[in-house]
Amino acid sequence: MSRRPLIAGNWKMNGLKADGIALADGVAAKRRAEPDLACDVLVCPPFLLVSDVARAVAGSGLAVGGQDCHAKTSGAHTGDTSPVMLKDAGCSHVILGHSERRTDHGETDAEVKAKAAAAHAAGLVAIVCIGETLAQRDGGETLEVNRRQLKGSLPEGANADNTVIAYEPVWAIGTGRVASPEQAQEVHAAIRAELVKLVGETEAGKMRILYGGSMKPENAAQLIALPDVDGGLIGGASLKVEDFWAIARNC
Ligand code: G3P
Repeated sequence: MSRRPLIAGNWKMNGLKADGIALADGVAAKRRAEPDLACDVLVCPPFLLVSDVARAVAGSGLAVGGQDCHAKTSGAHTGDTSPVMLKDAGCSHVILGHSERRTDHGETDAEVKAKAAAAHAAGLVAIVCIGETLAQRDGGETLEVNRRQLKGSLPEGANADNTVIAYEPVWAIGTGRVASPEQAQEVHAAIRAELVKLVGETEAGKMRILYGGSMKPENAAQLIALPDVDGGLIGGASLKVEDFWAIARNC
């Protein structure tokens, strides 16, 4: 089954306003110049830049996403951001359960599941991140860890229209140590098989599974060409217009 690839840039905690607008303008210009590119392209700035970036890319065909959201839509949650606020600011997607949040903020599968449900209710596409640590891989636990995280992080009603999965081996994030095509395909195929049990064969066949973790212009083509890899969730390379677009052009 063919799935339209998604290339998503996770800017993480990088960029002041001028940097974010310049980056957004650069990627939007690339998108406008190649309207027939056979993939969806998404940029996920820090919260404070979402509105400015949404304005900068309006009409370009680029989508905008958040990097997290609260599981509630409003209330006494100092410092948090509601999925409804992200939608109101121009987002169509939100990254949830990134390993950096699972590590830095102790986010659990249950919390990711609740956030994804709230994102769906707000009309956002949830990009649910899962991935094993190097210790778990070395211990032969890779497939079991990813199956468990996937099962624990997906809410009722998840489908190919409101959910994207991102497999991000923790040991590949920011390290330059990208998963081999064999490693990536093995886990993506296992995720696809688990999705059949969780959301049914039709939705599992349509749901996009992104690879993230040191995807760069020099390795993107091999990874995106894999049967169960449907694009990438890009960190460092998304902060450079030319590198990010070089990756997108592999779709
Ligand atoms: O969310 C994507 C990110 O974790 C991957 O980072 O810098 O290895 O592309 P990077």
